[in-house]
Amino acid sequence: MNDLRGRRIVLGVTGGIAAYKAVEVCRRLVDAGAEVVPVLTRGALRMVGETTFSALAGNRARTSLFDDPDPIPHTRLGQSADAIVVAPATARILADLRSGRSGDLLTATVMASRAPLVLAPAMHTEMWEQAAIQENVRILAERGAVVVGPDEGRLAGGDVGAGRLAAPAVIVEAVRRVLGPRDLEGRRVLVTAGGTREPIDAVRFVGNRSSGKQGHALAAEAAARGAEVVLVTTRPDTAPPGVRVVPVETAAEMHDACVLEAPACDMVVMAAAVADFRPVAPAAGKLKKTDGVPRVELEPTVDILAALGAAKRPGQILVGFAAETDELVAHAREKLARKKLDWIVANDVSKPSVGFEHDTNEVVLLGADGTRHDVALTDKREIARAVFDTALGRPPTRPTTQEHE
Ligand code: CTP
Repeated sequence: MNDLRGRRIVLGVTGGIAAYKAVEVCRRLVDAGAEVVPVLTRGALRMVGETTFSALAGNRARTSLFDDPDPIPHTRLGQSADAIVVAPATARILADLRSGRSGDLLTATVMASRAPLVLAPAMHTEMWEQAAIQENVRILAERGAVVVGPDEGRLAGGDVGAGRLAAPAVIVEAVRRVLGPRDLEGRRVLVTAGGTREPIDAVRFVGNRSSGKQGHALAAEAAARGAEVVLVTTRPDTAPPGVRVVPVETAAEMHDACVLEAPACDMVVMAAAVADFRPVAPAAGKLKKTDGVPRVELEPTVDILAALGAAKRPGQILVGFAAETDELVAHAREKLARKKLDWIVANDVSKPSVGFEHDTNEVVLLGADGTRHDVALTDKREIARAVFDTALGRPPTRPTTQEHE
């Protein structure tokens, strides 16, 4: 079964004897198509080797909050995870998670994540039955964690009782259950991302501040929901895994790629910041300063979204973006109608932490049918969830307002 394809799962392994069974959990997740990032605590490293996990996952096992090539590994891991599973979960990690302590990479990753959490406790019966541990587990479950097991059976040292790690297959099943909908299974989605670059000469261009982050979050979310994703992007270096990347640079290249790909797609999400103007006659070589200040004449680029709207086939869902600095809703509504879109995602890029270059966004989703959903400031992956939820006719995950205008 390849049903976890496109899902990114952080597998936390803590220092219990059952850590060796986490190797099997890792293998099963990988077999199901998931991208697994193993995170081993110091205790886990006393029990099992990180090489085993790195080799099985095909991803470097992470072991430290501070000695990681990434300067802030916990936020990157936490925000990009579709689910976090901790197997085995020791008494120590249960207590840390209950109290919000984040002293190592695994606890910090869980704290920095909104992804569903699966906990598979394993410990000796006496420990498991302690009131403190039972209370920690109960509270974590009340807060939404899914607790799997433990089972009864033979424990380390030959004892028999409750506390044995749940079977790896059962843990993987729990991961499947907590992962959200596969409502784009069998559908093809085209996403565009990044700002286009329109050459002035061989080295200079007219560009904009788009980082491609929102478009890439949309592509990752569509893939996680089962879609076959084509990502036309000017930032291929930061494209998410599990999508087909078509690298482009100019508006004209993006137009050609979209016109080629869109007819076969059930949904098009145009998150790219396409230049509206380009130099009429870019110089083939580099313009020399000694030749004086150049006069760069501009001409309009083709409006890709309007072209896709005009060629839209019945049933295809077309989603555009509107980057505005004033009269957000009025301008966005006008674009929604003019470009024949089903949905437009409007953001006020003059607000702090919104839009270009940021990891967060705040948007208003407007539908051709008059629907409006406001999504408060959140990370771009969460915005992506709300966009697909809305466009697929599900209530958005985190709306602040829902109204029919
Ligand atoms: N867009 C496009 N092709 C262009 C310009 C914009 O496909 N040449 C798309 C963007 O990807 C976005 C939507 O149109 O999904 C709106 O882009 P935006 O820049 O907000 O609007 P414009 O139509 O360019 O209008 P203006 O810049 O005047 O606000």
